[in-house]
Amino acid sequence: MAKAKWLGHSCVLVTVEGAKIIIDPFIKGNPQCPIQLEQLPKIDVVLVTHGHADHLGDAIEICMAHDALLIGVYELCVYCQSRGVRKAYPMHIGGSAKFSFGMVKLTPAIHGSAITHPSTVYTGEACGFILVADGSTLYHAGDTALFGDMKLIGERNRIDCAFIPIGDNFTMGIDDAVEATLMLHPKVVVPMHYDTFPVIKADPNEFARKLSEADKTIRCCILSPGEEVEY
Ligand code: NI
Ligand code: MN
Repeated sequence: MAKAKWLGHSCVLVTVEGAKIIIDPFIKGNPQCPIQLEQLPKIDVVLVTHGHADHLGDAIEICMAHDALLIGVYELCVYCQSRGVRKAYPMHIGGSAKFSFGMVKLTPAIHGSAITHPSTVYTGEACGFILVADGSTLYHAGDTALFGDMKLIGERNRIDCAFIPIGDNFTMGIDDAVEATLMLHPKVVVPMHYDTFPVIKADPNEFARKLSEADKTIRCCILSPGEEVEY
């Protein structure tokens, strides 16, 4: 059975048979993250949704220290390779690829993507991920607005677990996240990308309540940083 541990913000550590996969590894400087970078287990794969610092995070350092494989859009992979990442697998939105641990597909996300400090570097488009491994399907939306094609993503994938941003301002807020969840129709939804900073303060219980008013068949799992869900 696959397990997803939330490390705060959009950082999710996934354990599947034979691999540890970290998504958007924002650890240093993440006020929600309960662990230090040095406390990570051996990481095999790093998935990054876009170049913003709260998502790219410590990806380059982790890839170099763990000899991990970086997966993301082409432009972001090329940038990370220029900064010393040895193993990168560039993809782009709509594309899927099979790996020893499972299948990864890049989904659209309506959002920006650039590194902004110390200078601006274009890092392609923001994306989300479908990860099929261990017979289970995870969807990580990344940073995104609500978009109607989430209905297609939900129809074409039997999503066991979805991580969805709810913090508003930079991404969907609670009402849009409820609508997104109804379209994606996962078995379990985990809210993320809230309360990390004052500007994205949101109440996950309000999200859970509004979701259950709309659809009682989708379980909302509110995690505290460091807690995990089996899916
Ligand atoms: Ni962002
Ligand atoms: Mn973000």
